[in-house]
Amino acid sequence: MIERILLLPGGSLTVLLGLPLILSISYIFISILLDPLRHLPGPRIARFTRLWYLYQIYQGRFEQVNIALHQKYGPIVRIAPGEYSLDDVNAAKIIYGHKANVVSQAPWYYAWSPADPNKSGLFSDLNPHRHASQRRKFASAYSMSTLVSYEQYVDHCTALLVQRFDELAQSHHIINLYHWLQCYAFDVIGEITFGVRFGLLDMGKDEAGIFTAIDGRNAYGTFVGIYPFLNNLIFPYLPKSGGFTFVIKFAVNQISKKMASLKDPRISRTDGPPDFVSKLVARHEEDPEKITKADIQMICQSNIAAGSDTTAISLSSIMYFLMKHPESLGRLRKEIDDAATNKLVSDPVTFKQAQEHLPFLQAVIKEALRLHPAVGLGLQRIVPEGGVDIAAQKFPPGTTVGVNAWVSHRNQATFGTDAKEWRPERWLEDGGKEMEGHMLSFGMGSRTCIGKNISLLEMSKLIPQLIRTFDFQLEESLLGRGWQTESRWFVKQIDFRGSISRRKL
Ligand code: HEM
Repeated sequence: MIERILLLPGGSLTVLLGLPLILSISYIFISILLDPLRHLPGPRIARFTRLWYLYQIYQGRFEQVNIALHQKYGPIVRIAPGEYSLDDVNAAKIIYGHKANVVSQAPWYYAWSPADPNKSGLFSDLNPHRHASQRRKFASAYSMSTLVSYEQYVDHCTALLVQRFDELAQSHHIINLYHWLQCYAFDVIGEITFGVRFGLLDMGKDEAGIFTAIDGRNAYGTFVGIYPFLNNLIFPYLPKSGGFTFVIKFAVNQISKKMASLKDPRISRTDGPPDFVSKLVARHEEDPEKITKADIQMICQSNIAAGSDTTAISLSSIMYFLMKHPESLGRLRKEIDDAATNKLVSDPVTFKQAQEHLPFLQAVIKEALRLHPAVGLGLQRIVPEGGVDIAAQKFPPGTTVGVNAWVSHRNQATFGTDAKEWRPERWLEDGGKEMEGHMLSFGMGSRTCIGKNISLLEMSKLIPQLIRTFDFQLEESLLGRGWQTESRWFVKQIDFRGSISRRKL
């Protein structure tokens, strides 16, 4: 019937529809037969289609699936056709240790920016040369020596969070600690980046819908990245309103204000150390070709998208593990109290003091980042020309390989037979430095987290303040079964409930 309507000869519709199907299936089978890595293990269906990987991520616990896969299949597991997850002591150093201009992100990263590759951010730039040159432009604004100028912004938000917690302690309500730490982390990044916070701590809620919008963008990148070609089709139709647009408008407004104020002789330039965007705007004024307005906008947005949830997740993990392990909490409190009595730390604690005089705090931070890395997927890369040898296997060029921090941080050859357990003391023992070289929470190599120092600054300053001032009690039901998480790219705590009271001294 349809053939008659379309004026096609009898049987031709079957051929038209059937032929591409037969060709596709034949292509899949021939590729599998010719694949030099066909002997490698993994779920059977992952050999044929990327849908298995997509479905597992959709379930929201991929980091646990990834751990279980390696327990079942060993150090190399196929997670999609041509794509492998690795669990080997040397894997990360081999994969991420190549020269900056050789390490190529897997196409998955393509879905994390507009369909035009010229508009991609640092995180999603697939071109290693452009990435390296862009990264060089901004590196100084994240360096250790610049951090001192950002401390005041962290202090403002810390004081505000302490004020909010005091009010909540008086109301005796159960609170969602993750929500408050998320408000804190977004406001700190707002202040550091623009010198102005979003106002989340002031309001206690996210009226503009920033959290949901960023969650939505992250889910989009995570899922569409599995079939990255879809980004060209879908991206232009993404909603142009809501929380994400609020963030973009906020960034554009702040940048314009800074540009205007730099040209205004009535505005003093000696009002304390400059925020992140002021430093970049000053450099733009000196050489507008080198740092363009688009560059500034891109990197400011990256700060918010990459630096807020990740820090909130990590702050939550630190607090959660301390609440679950009162012996660690006791030791940390004693370290902070003793340091204060001996006048080794001030109130608030400075970043330098936290690094020099609070070694157990640093161990607690590392252990929380080890057991609960903010990113729950493998950091996938394309094997370069010449191939690589990992875990006694040669991977040909073009293969996608990666290591998931959730897997590598539980590797017993690296972290010991108690790798699954919470034991911050391990960082203070012999071998602590070597273990640090295997940490993947902030990534590794040329794409390693550019904002790592900023997040360490926040953690090193806020945690002592909270521990000194408040008692936290995890809700009864969470003490036994632990908290619930939902993962896309980030592994987020979705029910971190507890009560808060002023610490009794
Ligand atoms: C505890 C907090 C943080 C964690 C766990 C974290 C984690 C990561 C990881 C794992 C990567 C590498 C991703 C990959 O290889 O695919 C990364 C990259 C990045 N992070 Fe962070 N991050 C944190 C905080 C921050 C902060 C505070 C900022 C900015 C202020 C930031 C900005 C970035 C940017 C721009 C990149 C891309 C770097 C590049 O490709 O050159 N991050 N982060």
